[in-house]
Amino acid sequence: MTSATDVPQHVAVVMDGNGRWATQRYLPRIAGHRQGVEVLKRMVRACAERDIATLTVFAFSSENWRRPADEVLGLMDILMMALSREVTQMQRDGVQIRFVGSREALSEKIKTGLEKAEALTASNSKIVLNVCFNYGGRWDIANAARQLVALNKEVTEDNLSQTLALAHCPDPDLVIRTGGEKRLSNFLLWQAAYSELYFSELLWPDFDEAALDAALAEYAARERRFGKTSQQLAADAGVAVQN
Ligand code: IPE
Ligand code: IPE
Ligand code: MG
Repeated sequence: MTSATDVPQHVAVVMDGNGRWATQRYLPRIAGHRQGVEVLKRMVRACAERDIATLTVFAFSSENWRRPADEVLGLMDILMMALSREVTQMQRDGVQIRFVGSREALSEKIKTGLEKAEALTASNSKIVLNVCFNYGGRWDIANAARQLVALNKEVTEDNLSQTLALAHCPDPDLVIRTGGEKRLSNFLLWQAAYSELYFSELLWPDFDEAALDAALAEYAARERRFGKTSQQLAADAGVAVQN
């Protein structure tokens, strides 16, 4: 069987379940988001150790503005806190941080923080960490199309792919969603066209290295056909071996 035996080059994660994790512990939802950052730090390290080149995480969606104002404010505070506390260590660990999403509605302070973090880590190459913040797949596609039109370029699949927010990395091989829901919630609508989808019942703050390895093992056992038949893939692999 032809399978995705390799480690995925690009893993994307919908980090869902922070609120429920906190509620289970009679804590405010924001405590779950704080714990979520701790788990993210561990996951970046774990992915780097497994030679995953790119990790993309969904941290705040275009639709999350609809949450109660105190939760939105709390999430902005956590982002600011993470920017001031975590970036130095990420820099030491060779993490290249990129923020993906619309910056229009963000405060000047946050925008400056994002720019600084990106500039400081721009030449790192151990792992790329894309943090999708104020991101939505529909925004991404419409935004790219708008840019092409403004540049008088044709709206083709190739041109769109090269203009989307994640144009600097290949499409995700594996999309993991924690928290039990089985939906994309407007995450990477274009880029996940052929991603393997993996749903974990674990809430994001409970996700750990063993859970990551279970997802990677399932990924490795899947057959990615990209529209072809299994026989074609076997023949392609045979040719590759002979070469
Ligand atoms: C995901 O966790 C984090 C964000 C959306 C910011 P949730 O806050 O959605 O957690 P649940 O789904 O309510 O448990
Ligand atoms: C998706 O989770 C967004 C992030 C994890 C940042 P949501 O909790 O917002 O998704 P829905 O509302 O359950 O679809
Ligand atoms: Mg949720």
